[in-house]
Amino acid sequence: MTKPHDAPADALVFFGATGDLAYKKIFPSLQAMIRRGHLNVPVIGVAKAGWNLDQFRERARDSLEKHGGLDPAAFEKLLALLRYVDGDYADASTFAALRKELGGAQRPAHYMAIPPVLFGAVVEQLAAAGCTQGARIVVEKPFGHDRASAMALNAILLRTFDEPRIFRIDHYLGKGPVHNMLHFRFANSFLEPFWNRNHVESVQITMAEDFGVQGRGAFYDATGTTRDVVQNHLFQLLTNLAMEPPVRSDSESIRDEKVKVLKAMPTLTERDIVRGQFSGYLGEAGVRAGSKTETFAALRLHVDSWRWQGVPFYIRAGKCLPVTCTEVLVRLHRSPSVYAGRNQTPNHVRLRISPDITIALGMNVLSPQDESVSLGSEMLASRHPAAGEMDAYERVLGDAMRGDATLFAREDYVEEAWRIVDPALQAETPVHAYAPGTWGPSEVLAVTPHGGWHDPRLA
Ligand code: BG6
Repeated sequence: MTKPHDAPADALVFFGATGDLAYKKIFPSLQAMIRRGHLNVPVIGVAKAGWNLDQFRERARDSLEKHGGLDPAAFEKLLALLRYVDGDYADASTFAALRKELGGAQRPAHYMAIPPVLFGAVVEQLAAAGCTQGARIVVEKPFGHDRASAMALNAILLRTFDEPRIFRIDHYLGKGPVHNMLHFRFANSFLEPFWNRNHVESVQITMAEDFGVQGRGAFYDATGTTRDVVQNHLFQLLTNLAMEPPVRSDSESIRDEKVKVLKAMPTLTERDIVRGQFSGYLGEAGVRAGSKTETFAALRLHVDSWRWQGVPFYIRAGKCLPVTCTEVLVRLHRSPSVYAGRNQTPNHVRLRISPDITIALGMNVLSPQDESVSLGSEMLASRHPAAGEMDAYERVLGDAMRGDATLFAREDYVEEAWRIVDPALQAETPVHAYAPGTWGPSEVLAVTPHGGWHDPRLA
């Protein structure tokens, strides 16, 4: 936990309060924060639904009953904190009503759980109604569609809020095991001697999902895998793996190091990306006829730094793959073969982010049955997330309220991340069909690590 920039927020305002994200993620996180004693300020929902406070409270109850369970004591407290403002985001009277609800709050956190096209109008109205003094703003992904639109969004936000008051959510950073990656790297000394180009042959990151677009066809079709999860979530994993130790543990020292990794990454070339689309995708509601949007992507990237030059970093992500799992595999160079004929496998470090949390060190041991045979084996620390562990949204919302920016994407980070993928995405490389339940199109061979992609089902 790092030192926040300033005092905690004294009110939480969330726009899009009757929407899907609020229903699935935000109410459960608010209840969890209350249980932990982390939330004791007014929570003001804003939306245009024609609702009143009672209907809004009912929505909260329904959300908790469906997503994670209702804790009577915490829910009672949440009800007492909830306020509701109904109105159009283009209408000044909505924001006058919000100003009134804010009462004496000096440092509200405004959370935009709304489509980015609305950010500009909402920010302007907030400023005109006197709701931005001392405030911070929390914005949801996607942050832009490309570098130019991300820069335009940044310009809108920066007109009213300075950078330390802008919190760009990437919920992946709120996941415990993602958070733990830096701890694992920098609280242990045994890794450092081999965590570099001299010993690492390749790094691969897989984010596989065994389901399709789950009714989000229109959103997904305008987005695609690379924009949906690679440029943001998986680049965050990559920078956690590749960054140098921060000189201090404050948010800026950590974020500086992450930006340096992106700066060292050459722009992705068309040769280094393979895109796929699962058969049947075109029949999903909201998907355009003949769409060339990818539901699978495999990328080969490079980090041209002193530590990593020459080591390929592979990322593969997709929908309708054989399993749901996010995992990193850092493969080391094969050892010299003293034991000829024993077929040693290269050592590795495997970090599983979900569904279970695993740290595994891969090594060779002698087979107990046949001492002429070497067996690949893992030293394993693994557990399933325990009940009551902090969920990603609870962590990022809590951090934004406290003013700790460590787990949020900074302006320069977002723009660098887009710089890397933009040209290859704009080139509209071919999209190859793959059968649901497989590891993407056969063309993925062109972007495959030496030694192959690891199948998380075999671990
Ligand atoms: C979201 C993407 O950001 O992350 C989804 O829009 C994806 O397509 C999701 O399924 C995965 O996150 P989690 O936390 O559910 O694994």
